[in-house]
Amino acid sequence: MNSSSPAQPTQPDPDESLLELEAKYCSWGDTVHYAKELTMFSRSEGSYLYDDQGTQYLDLQMWYSAVNFGYGNPRLNAALKKQIDTLPQLACQYLHKEKILLATKLARKIEATFGEKGRIHFNVGGASAVEDAWKVARIRTKKNFAFAFMGGYHGRTLGASAITSSYRYREKFGHFADRANFIPFPYCFRCPYGMKRESCGLHCLKQFERLFETEYYGVVNKTGDAEFGAFFIEAVQGTGGYIVPPAEYLPGLKKVLDQHGILLIDDEIQMGFYRTGKFLALEHFGVKPDVIVMGKALTNGLNPISAIWAREDLISPAVFPPGTTHSTFSSNPLGTAVALEAVKLMEEEDFETRVMRSGAYFLSRLRELAKKYPQMGDVDGLGLALRVEMCQRDGYTPNRALTDAMMNIGLSGTLTAGGGSKGLILDVGGYYKNVFTIAPCLNITEREIDTALALFEETLQRGIAQTE
Ligand SMILES: Cc1ncc(COP(=O)(O)O)c(C=O)c1O
Repeated sequence: MNSSSPAQPTQPDPDESLLELEAKYCSWGDTVHYAKELTMFSRSEGSYLYDDQGTQYLDLQMWYSAVNFGYGNPRLNAALKKQIDTLPQLACQYLHKEKILLATKLARKIEATFGEKGRIHFNVGGASAVEDAWKVARIRTKKNFAFAFMGGYHGRTLGASAITSSYRYREKFGHFADRANFIPFPYCFRCPYGMKRESCGLHCLKQFERLFETEYYGVVNKTGDAEFGAFFIEAVQGTGGYIVPPAEYLPGLKKVLDQHGILLIDDEIQMGFYRTGKFLALEHFGVKPDVIVMGKALTNGLNPISAIWAREDLISPAVFPPGTTHSTFSSNPLGTAVALEAVKLMEEEDFETRVMRSGAYFLSRLRELAKKYPQMGDVDGLGLALRVEMCQRDGYTPNRALTDAMMNIGLSGTLTAGGGSKGLILDVGGYYKNVFTIAPCLNITEREIDTALALFEETLQRGIAQTE
């Protein structure tokens, strides 16, 4: 451009900062502006994010558990780079080797785990795969209605938000899919029935079972045929606050569902791929799913791929024929190539032992800390899916102000524990938005866990000073 030509209308004014441009030109409809202070990063490696000033932030959420195998994982990045140089783009109506091998590996792994033959169907995001799973259930059962859990999260497309518990996700849009019947999750720290786990006798499960006793509870007809085709579950509730159900709950639930021909759709988008120490979180509970939904860490947060697995009788070409569902990018070669390498990595390395060991260490350190701070009202977890529920000094009343303060202090990059200026990335979930849902890199070392604890304690002390 010569100096006399007029300024290009797309050229930012040199005086405008990136944040000013963001404020004007990016939609605020995503979750960025939940925060009062926006944080921008420019580099990542292992368990860490770095800002422009080079400040290091220890990440305890790893992109909501999408980056289980660490930022810049050399093996997975290399698979992506190799695919870029060979076959990076291909319309999904044609085949490529990586798609077939990935489907084969996933289907065989699931068959070996649950003893059921099935097939894999790919899509791009988690919510789209949730909707694919719902299609499978509707084809089989011819029922539009589904059960889902209070506190459950299955995504924000119009279909997925119908089975995501909070009305907030639906209220502006009306109903494009039938809203789920939301059932209380066994959240024992805050039992929805006000009971104690030691003496409840799984009251919540019994309440669910009772819904099928008579047609007047609005679930079955005179002959016991249910109006509901599917129950969408997260075996360990994710966005709801990393809540681990009692061991007997899910087996009991599955028994009731089987009696009434209702399919169990196991959403493993957040908890799958060793987050809880098993390939799939449901494995901890000895329950066989009918359909499984996967996403996030399947590609370690690189080119996205989501997937469903369904039992052969639910997804065979006879019932799920060509064109039943499709997206331009659904089995994109970059995604399938990385996912194939990620599944190989999971086969070759013993994540089960590693995650259970480091999860136990992390949990014990958090529980030690909780002895000093009554504000850490509940500390629990499975594998490296850990929860710290922040409360008032009574150890029970939800303390959102402290939670928010700690999250912001972590993001300020001004922590000094261990020397220097550091940050801590904490994600907040839970029914009262007072739970730190801790999902570190699955390769986190004991030393990094010790650092995490020191940084967490500093944010806690500073948070208490700000809010009490
Ligand atoms: C359990 C669960 N299901 C579904 C989704 C939606 O996935 P996506 O955001 O990729 O659409 C999420 C995302 O956080 C999730 O945690």
